[in-house]
Amino acid sequence: MSKIAAERCEDLLLRQFGQGPGAVGSAPGRVNLIGEHTDYNDGFVLPMALERRTGVALCPSPDCRWRFVSEHDDTVVEFSDEEAMQVGRRDWTSYCRGVAAGFRSAGHTVPPLCIAVASDVPLGGGLSSSAALEVSVASAIEGLIGVPIEPVTKALLCQKAEHEFAGVPCGYMDQAISVMGRADHALLIDCRSLEATLVPVSDGSVSVLIVNSMVRHELSGGEYAQRRAQCERAVKDIARVDGAVSSLRDVSLDLLATVRPHVEPIAWRRARHVAGEIARTLKAAVALRAGDYAGFGRLMDESHASLRDDYEVSCKELDLLVEIARCQCGVLGARMTGGGFGGCIVSLVASEHASTAGHAIAASYFAQTGVRPDWFVTRAGDGARTERAAH
Ligand code: GLA
Repeated sequence: MSKIAAERCEDLLLRQFGQGPGAVGSAPGRVNLIGEHTDYNDGFVLPMALERRTGVALCPSPDCRWRFVSEHDDTVVEFSDEEAMQVGRRDWTSYCRGVAAGFRSAGHTVPPLCIAVASDVPLGGGLSSSAALEVSVASAIEGLIGVPIEPVTKALLCQKAEHEFAGVPCGYMDQAISVMGRADHALLIDCRSLEATLVPVSDGSVSVLIVNSMVRHELSGGEYAQRRAQCERAVKDIARVDGAVSSLRDVSLDLLATVRPHVEPIAWRRARHVAGEIARTLKAAVALRAGDYAGFGRLMDESHASLRDDYEVSCKELDLLVEIARCQCGVLGARMTGGGFGGCIVSLVASEHASTAGHAIAASYFAQTGVRPDWFVTRAGDGARTERAAH
């Protein structure tokens, strides 16, 4: 059997740096079932962790220089201690350096490190490969320094690393689910209070099918930051009419209808997506708990339409995949997942049809685009863990 990422990164550390690991951490990618572009609006999200993980092995550097290697690119990247702790050049090591800098800012002693990375989370596929990397670095550092970090604090530290070192103004969802995911459960996260509640997805009669459009999405591309700014604009316009509103979490669809003349038109449509999506996410959690999978699927379909028409973060490839998926026997609902502009769709399918549906969607997408999409059926996996500690 082929080795898992947490084992491969140990091998890589030994091969490249001739040293065994001081510590190893691993963390999963995620798929968001529903609740898209709501996290940075204080709303609700309902992601689950994937079984696919990233592994990070690290040890103190023998000469105070930071060194990084990944199995995706065998060249070693080196920094002095001072350079490593600055934003500097933005590349994949930014996610690791940002997390290490976060530990130091929180008062922990982290020496310069040699770091080796292996991953089974598809890169740039909208399944949060970057959060999986940040969180596995954090889990390995916890193992090295022998200090466990409280889960919410750990997720916030990793989110900050992404803001500051990768320049992506992401919300709280990806890092939170990568830290706190649990096998056979989705997580309903209230991004205002940061409270997280497990929701079982253990019923074997339904499966989660993920299909990659193979269009690479880059959140640093500016569209994401623009959507955030449009939401802030909507809040500002609405707050002039209703002073109690401090984020789109406070805005119901009824309130939106009454304030329409006072809100800039594009910002109003963005707000309609967010208010509708927050309501859908709460309904979806209720449906999942009740085993109402048809109802859950309908909410997924509505979510996609709203992301496509009001929030405008889909693309023709994602729309095509969603359309093809919905025609397959056993598919209960389908939507784009993650930031958008590429990446994956997620669909809920009757388990007996999941594999046939995956093959059929891939064949039809290939026939229409000439691109062969990756796809897989997944259960909910566990969140991050320290695989090996130094103490
Ligand atoms: C990206 C961000 C998340 C979230 C989603 C959209 O994945 O990292 O914080 O905003 O987009 O729901």
